[in-house]
Amino acid sequence: MFWALLSWALLAAVGLGSGCSEDLLEPGLDYFSFLQHSLEPRRAKETYSLFVKFHKVAGTTWRDFVDHITGVSLNCSNLCGKPYLECQIAYHTDPLFTKLCELDMDARHCDQPLHSCTFHQSLEVIRQAVSGRTLTANSSDLVSLQNLWPDDQRLALLYNVDWARVWLPSTFGGKRLLTTTLLRDPTERIRSYYYYIAPSTHEGFRSFLESRRDYVAGNMTQEAFENESWPLFLQTCCEYEAYLGDGSVEKAKLTLATQFNLVGITERMSEGLVSLGRLYGLTPWEVGRLGKEIPRDLDNGQNKLDWAADELLLATYVSKKSRAVYDFAKELFQQQAWAWA
Ligand SMILES: *[C@@H]1O[C@H](CO)[C@@H](O)[C@H](O)[C@H]1NC(C)=O
Ligand SMILES: *[C@@H]1O[C@H](CO)[C@@H](O)[C@H](O)[C@H]1NC(C)=O
Ligand SMILES: *[C@@H]1O[C@H](CO)[C@@H](O)[C@H](O)[C@H]1NC(C)=O
Ligand SMILES: *[C@@H]1O[C@H](CO)[C@@H](O)[C@H](O)[C@H]1NC(C)=O
Repeated sequence: MFWALLSWALLAAVGLGSGCSEDLLEPGLDYFSFLQHSLEPRRAKETYSLFVKFHKVAGTTWRDFVDHITGVSLNCSNLCGKPYLECQIAYHTDPLFTKLCELDMDARHCDQPLHSCTFHQSLEVIRQAVSGRTLTANSSDLVSLQNLWPDDQRLALLYNVDWARVWLPSTFGGKRLLTTTLLRDPTERIRSYYYYIAPSTHEGFRSFLESRRDYVAGNMTQEAFENESWPLFLQTCCEYEAYLGDGSVEKAKLTLATQFNLVGITERMSEGLVSLGRLYGLTPWEVGRLGKEIPRDLDNGQNKLDWAADELLLATYVSKKSRAVYDFAKELFQQQAWAWA
């Protein structure tokens, strides 16, 4: 309680919540070395980090916090084991762009030990880790924090994904795994996704939603089915349940409850970042200082059209499962935020 109140006071003071601009950092103060220094004693345990980065949830801000806190550069935290995956998904219709993207990946130079995975490949890491496996929660109350598996068991589960071993340890005793994610209201996530990739028209958005409605209703035509790029399609409509639960809401909840130290909520970003900092051993004051440096994720606000009533109905239908996962995540965050306060 004390920490929670203090956190809010500090956030207000440094403007993390509001993005206000008064500069409390002294010029020339090297606060990263200050952070490194202050983190030294807590580094005794080797820590591995997985941030499961969904699309269009403001995940870049969260990722930047994790990378800064752990001192890992972007060139390294994207080495999750499948560097070309994002290129192949994003540019699936264009072999030239795919190749250029892959060359860009190859050119990134990382000279740090690999301890974390914070890019979109993380989605495939968690999907393959839990897919086809029975996850058991030991409390009948699924939001209970007692359901989180011990670190060595969670590391072992990830280690089953053979291509992800590039950043994982080969022995698990005495090691720490901090797994976090961020979920956003699913209808807003779909709207952001559409206006990020496609022209700003109601007609376009409506037909985008209609094809996803047919998929969810199970009556998509064969022709439309074959016309789609699958990972991309699932990312747009059904990402939470597809990657956390093989399409099942119950499984997705179990994955969140048993594998994640912290499940943040985009709509409660500042509280989430304070909890994230505390998870890694930072004081709210240190989180506030980081918040001054890290820009907030830009939402493509100016391209987005307002909801039309029928679009909102369609989107609500399409995201029924995602909504259930998101609602559970909100409850879990409530528990975790207090535990870390
Ligand atoms: C990332 O890779 C690029 C290309 O090799 C290199 O110029 C840059 O210095 C690297 N950045 C870091 C922080 O290592
Ligand atoms: C659940 O499991 C964890 C770790 O295995 C253990 O620490 C905790 O006490 C268990 N909780 C219950 C309610 O059995
Ligand atoms: C699929 O089912 C939905 C809901 O019942 C309906 O609105 C839609 O028109 C159907 N689509 C196709 C391609 O039949
Ligand atoms: C197939 O995809 C193309 C390009 O995205 C689109 O113009 C066309 O309408 C799609 N066809 C069907 C049957 O969905």
